[in-house]
Amino acid sequence: MPAGTTPDGQSPAEQPTGGTLPAGVIGCGDAGGAHALTVTRTSRATLTATYDLDGARAVAVAARHGGTAVGSVEELVATGVTLVAIATGPIAQPQVVRRLIDAGYAGSVLCEKPLATSVASARRTVDAARDAGLVLAVNHERRFGLPAVTARRLVTEGAIGRLLRVEGYSPDGTLYDWAPHWIDLAFDVAGGSAVRWVHGLLDLTGRREHAGLLLERHGLLLWEHANGVRGQLECGRPVPGQPLLRLLGDDGTIEVGAVLAGPDGEVRGPALRIRDSAGIGWRHIDVGESALAAVQWTRSWDELIDATLHGRQPEHHGQRAVRALEVCLAGYLAARRGAPQWLPVDPGTDLRDLLPAPPPAVAGPKADPHAADGPRADPHAAGTGADATAGALS
Ligand SMILES: NC(=O)c1ccc[n+]([C@@H]2O[C@H](COP(=O)([O-])OP(=O)(O)OC[C@H]3O[C@@H](n4cnc5c(N)ncnc54)[C@H](O)[C@@H]3O)[C@@H](O)[C@H]2O)c1
Repeated sequence: MPAGTTPDGQSPAEQPTGGTLPAGVIGCGDAGGAHALTVTRTSRATLTATYDLDGARAVAVAARHGGTAVGSVEELVATGVTLVAIATGPIAQPQVVRRLIDAGYAGSVLCEKPLATSVASARRTVDAARDAGLVLAVNHERRFGLPAVTARRLVTEGAIGRLLRVEGYSPDGTLYDWAPHWIDLAFDVAGGSAVRWVHGLLDLTGRREHAGLLLERHGLLLWEHANGVRGQLECGRPVPGQPLLRLLGDDGTIEVGAVLAGPDGEVRGPALRIRDSAGIGWRHIDVGESALAAVQWTRSWDELIDATLHGRQPEHHGQRAVRALEVCLAGYLAARRGAPQWLPVDPGTDLRDLLPAPPPAVAGPKADPHAADGPRADPHAAGTGADATAGALS
């Protein structure tokens, strides 16, 4: 069977999509698989084509979720797709967007975060997409979670007084993986106020692989918005009692993805809770979904489709993503320099040049002050079914 055809000889563009938009996925790893699954859950798109450098992955995703595996970006464009998700990781994503454009693609793109490894490359990608008439969104799906949306509304309404600090957290991720989400949310709750400076701390004594990059095992970012709101993100080590997102005001606190003490350690608590001067203790707010619910992926696709059909910018448009990426890169720069990094950063700064070799291992019990931590249950770990597939991915 030639690439790009189905067993009955139809090209993907010829396959009936029931009035929905034909969609393709490029990069069929974990995130690409989650995009493919998500397409099956939207009523307005149908998966018709998949592509991966590793052809077996593209075939597996198509077999599971629909469509046909093709052999190149150009073949994927030729199938007539009008929506494309790119989940190859930040090193390849700019080139893939370029190839789509060069192949004459004129639809919409949902690109994975982080968009690129430098601000310059991310900007070039966003500008090239705009100039070619593409709608480019970045999959910051956390901004569509009802816990985050409600928290943002509560802050705007003054429920916790004046916002002082935004704290993001992931017990086992890396900064580069999680910062795009949490900094994106921080900008929103801080009213879009620009970031002035960023501090960064990285433990490079052990590395975590993320999308072809060897990143830190533990990292911390601290930043300040021009309106005085402080931001903080810690990734890579469990912090007892730390929720995924905590918003501290001068008259209360909001937590998204709280953790509670259980008989065998911490367990996932309410998706959203608030403690303010009006009440005694925490008040749980039922928003009807968990902090990392898979439905956030569906909303991300739906927002892109809606924006495309109505000729408007999607809420998670590329320019917003560049803003969050710059803060994240500034943190890696600051860690490297051992001093705060003021924005704007040199746009040519590439993350791949900022990751030094890890320091030599030190023998003895004090080599790693966290060694006694041992493996711990992650209260935010994936649930089962839908959540496990798309929800709990960063
Ligand atoms: N939005 C989210 O919540 C979320 C969740 C998970 C991952 N991600 C992001 O998705 C991206 C991918 O992560 P992953 O965990 O799926 O990685 P992965 O390594 O599992 O998958 C990447 C896939 O892309 C393919 N690929 C690489 N370069 C390619 C190219 N030039 N052309 C075609 N295919 C190519 C690889 O063969 C691989 O199959 C990362 O940037 C990651 O941060 C986002």
